Amino acid sequence: MSGAFIVFEGADGAGKSSLCRRIADDLSAKGISVSLTAEPTHEGIGAFIRSGDAGNISQRTEALLFVADRNDHTENIRRMVSEGKVVLCDRYFASTVAYQSAKLDGDASDRDWLIGINSQFIDEPDAIILLDIDPQVGMGRVGTRGEEISKFERLDFQNQVRANYLRLAEEYGFDVIDASQSQDDVYAQAMEIIGKVIG
Ligand code: TYD
Repeated sequence: MSGAFIVFEGADGAGKSSLCRRIADDLSAKGISVSLTAEPTHEGIGAFIRSGDAGNISQRTEALLFVADRNDHTENIRRMVSEGKVVLCDRYFASTVAYQSAKLDGDASDRDWLIGINSQFIDEPDAIILLDIDPQVGMGRVGTRGEEISKFERLDFQNQVRANYLRLAEEYGFDVIDASQSQDDVYAQAMEIIGKVIG
């Protein structure tokens, strides 16, 4: 079968990572060759971003690091798709636009700049699934997982991220799923979208 590139996006606590794992397990059980991957990656620049070792860098430098990580990641994704794999990718370019433009105060020129730096280094996904959720609900979930509330997870920030995502979804035709529904409903809707892509 021919490969596919499917991206999952959403603010922290939307349930992306567990949804991706469930879909990967399900497709594998059906004999489909799947690769589950995520950004920031866990190698090279992605591992560097996650380590926090970059120190006191500017917001723009941080954005460039996310894009640099994405450039190498995109080459891997392209290779896997060409080998016939269904690649499920937890975050891609919309994360940089949604998160970094929130950090840069959502200024229109910053948003254009973020879209511009991404555009040279990305492949077009076959589907981009946005898990949309009220950050207060999503953050409740993060809290119950007992995870550290990082600087990324403040409510006002997450509200801005959500608004940025919804604007991108409209402009770029993402598939939006209401992630406040039960996990089974979210899963069923995601599988329907993926089914249309992989046939
Ligand atoms: P996350 O998906 O939460 O990774 P994990 O669950 O493995 O820790 O991503 C970590 C954070 O990185 C998340 O809060 C969003 C942020 N991020 C950006 O700000 N810009 C980006 O381009 C990407 C890919 C992630």
